[in-house]
Amino acid sequence: MILVLALSLLVQPVELDFDFYRTEVEPIFLEKREGYTRCVVCHAGDERAAFLEGLPEGAEAWSEEQSRRNFESVMSLVTPGDPLASRLLVHPLEPAAGGNEFHTGGRQFSSQDDPQFQTLAAWVRGAKAR
Ligand code: HEC
Repeated sequence: MILVLALSLLVQPVELDFDFYRTEVEPIFLEKREGYTRCVVCHAGDERAAFLEGLPEGAEAWSEEQSRRNFESVMSLVTPGDPLASRLLVHPLEPAAGGNEFHTGGRQFSSQDDPQFQTLAAWVRGAKAR
C-alpha cells in the first residue's frame, strides 16, 4: 500500500501552475489585510527577507517576466502537494491554527479557512488556472 502510494507520487508529481500563481497567488502578496502590512512591503526588492522582485516605480503589479522570477523563488518556499509543509503557508499562519514560528510580518492568516490561505493551499496541491 505504502509502496503503491510512493510509486503514484513518483509517477505523478504535483506540478505548480504558473498561470494559477500569476492570477491567484501573486495578488495575495499585494493585497492589504486589515491591521497588517502588505507582504510586498517586506518581501520585495532590496528588503532583507525579499523573495519577490521589486515593483517597478508606480506599478501596481509585476510584469510577466518578473512574475516568472517570483514564481521560481516562491517555489522554493513550498512543498508541492503538501500545504502544511510549505513555509509560504505555515509561516504567516496563526500558531493556534497550525502555524509554527515567529513571523515579523504577523499572523496574517488567522485560520486555515482563510480564503487566501485556501488559495495558496490549492496552488500547492496543483490547482491549474481555469
Ligand atoms: C512587516 C514586514 C513583513 C510583512 C508585512 C510580511 N513579512 Fe514575511 N517575513 C518578514 C521577515 C523580516 C521575515 C524573516 C524573519 C522572520 O521569519 O520573521 C519573514 C519571513 C517570511 C517567510 C519565511 C521565508 C523563508 O525564507 O523561510 C515567509 C514564507 C513569509 N515571511 C511570508 C509572508 C507572507 C505570505 C506575507 C503576507 C501575507 C508576509 N510574509 C508579510 C517580514 C514581513
